[in-house]
Amino acid sequence: MKWRIAVLGGDGVGPEVMEASLEVLRATAEQFGHEFTADPRDVGFAAYERSGNPLPEETLSACRSADAVLLGAVGDPRAEGVPVELRPEAALLALRKEMGCYANLRPVRLLPALASASPLRPEIVDGTDLLIVRELAGGLYYSEPRGPVEDGRAAVDTMRYHQDEVVRIARVAFEAARERKRSVLSVDKANVLHSSRLWHRVVDEIAEEYPDVQCDHMLVDRAAMELVLDPSSFDVVLTPNLFGDVLSDEAAAVIGSIGLLASASIGGGGGIFEPVHGSAPDIAGTGTANPLAMILSAALLLRHVYSLEAEAAAIENAVGQVLEDGLRTSDLVGEGEGSVGTAEMGAAVAGAISRTGVGADA
Ligand code: IPM
Ligand code: MN
Repeated sequence: MKWRIAVLGGDGVGPEVMEASLEVLRATAEQFGHEFTADPRDVGFAAYERSGNPLPEETLSACRSADAVLLGAVGDPRAEGVPVELRPEAALLALRKEMGCYANLRPVRLLPALASASPLRPEIVDGTDLLIVRELAGGLYYSEPRGPVEDGRAAVDTMRYHQDEVVRIARVAFEAARERKRSVLSVDKANVLHSSRLWHRVVDEIAEEYPDVQCDHMLVDRAAMELVLDPSSFDVVLTPNLFGDVLSDEAAAVIGSIGLLASASIGGGGGIFEPVHGSAPDIAGTGTANPLAMILSAALLLRHVYSLEAEAAAIENAVGQVLEDGLRTSDLVGEGEGSVGTAEMGAAVAGAISRTGVGADA
């Protein structure tokens, strides 16, 4: 198979973790007999500095004509004085919208080798394996009106959902549940918000199409609490845009580090595959960032875009293997404990794939 992937390293640690994931993809392509072409493009503050636009037209058209997009991270403290619509984050939101990506899947699974990296007691975190299905193209992130009013003395954001937006994201969640433990927990704030009452009602309607899937609802504040009290009780967590953003960082901490959480943004064409973490400007350029979230995002790409289950599993198993072998980046160790850098971790995962002997002729 031929893979044509638009590669957007972006800002901060983005390009570093991207390099590691490309090495892993190259090893996977070689091992399984695929052809991999990466089309590198600018996005974020780096693109803004070069061209005055954080999402240049040529980047967008490269993303549209590729099979899928791999994205590192966007965000730079130097962008603080830049008009909001030209900030790196605006480029990411525009890219998601332009690519029609309305569903963001964030799998959160405790890797056995990392049980002790969680801040929670082993008996609580043990068995955690959930999937956050975050609505990505609407809600508080996009609804109008938005912006400053009264000459900047007040500001407005709007949380609006149309029932059609809830229908399509709910279906993604219920379909995903059928491949898992057949349980959907829909998160809202229906005791206060009108948009949440609509969300709740529409999710119940869609649930009737899936009698084989258990459907429950939980208020977002309670869900935030349950996620640390009993993370292994969750299966598919269906959330509006903002709640999913917040709960996914919390879920990442539960399994040990934000540097482990991958995501797939799908809905339109190929999709955007990016780690859940940000650009981490404090450690950018030091070569110490954890590349595993980016590497696992590449695995999600192979699974979702090309239906290459064996290849995706090979990457995931290689990640499990190097962790079993004791390799850790600095986010996963306590003070004074030894750790490896970004490139070393990437090379170890790539090496583990090449060594499996599973591949084209298996
Ligand atoms: C994420 C990020 C983005 C978001 C930011 C960078 C705009 O936090 O993907 O979770 O809020 O969606
Ligand atoms: Mn986030």
